[in-house]
Amino acid sequence: MSGIFISFEGIDGAGKSTHIERLANAFRAQGREVVLSREPGGTPLAERLRQMVLNDAMDAMTEALLVFAARRDHLQQVIRPALDRGDVVLCDRFTDATFAYQGSGRGFDWQILSVLESWVQAKAEGGTTPILVQPDLTIWFDLPASIAAQRLAGARVPDKFESQPLAFFEQVAAGYAKRQAADSARFARINADQTLEAVWRDVDRSVRAQGLLPC
Ligand code: TMP
Repeated sequence: MSGIFISFEGIDGAGKSTHIERLANAFRAQGREVVLSREPGGTPLAERLRQMVLNDAMDAMTEALLVFAARRDHLQQVIRPALDRGDVVLCDRFTDATFAYQGSGRGFDWQILSVLESWVQAKAEGGTTPILVQPDLTIWFDLPASIAAQRLAGARVPDKFESQPLAFFEQVAAGYAKRQAADSARFARINADQTLEAVWRDVDRSVRAQGLLPC
């Protein structure tokens, strides 16, 4: 059985978590081993880097380098071994978040992010066109920034990103749209401004449409 890699994306407050859990159960019901993880994070080293990225002031390049360093460790220690075993990896955020947050949100150079992506995610080194580890499917929870802000208000003590103004999240959402336009076959865009059940139906449908769960 070949491994399956699904990432979940969206601006803060888009409401990914319950659906990730529910999808994990749907795969387990098919007898699949599921690895639940997140970025930045997923290994002891990457979790330490996460604390810095989420809490310490730094410029956008430093942020980008730290999230890619965390991603490299996560890929080496967790994601690639799990995919090699044939497991299902459900990852709360992956590289699209770097393009959306550091690229579009913070204004860091999209081209440099592409270079970092090709270094960090290369499956084999030395080829002219490296094959990259990419999710089989990216579920993008798309929600207007103003609604996400209402959902987040007072929910918990905001971290560095959650406390950004509305305009930042509008830019982040535009970054996700740009990533989707560049690789639309990999993306399922879900309208996250619906009831929990309606969002779940769309999530479930998109995974089955991709042939990752039986119809
Ligand atoms: P989370 O709270 O959804 O776990 O995400 C952590 C925060 O880190 C979220 O605000 C998005 C941000 N982030 C980046 O800025 N760049 C990245 O590459 C990733 C993966 C997350």
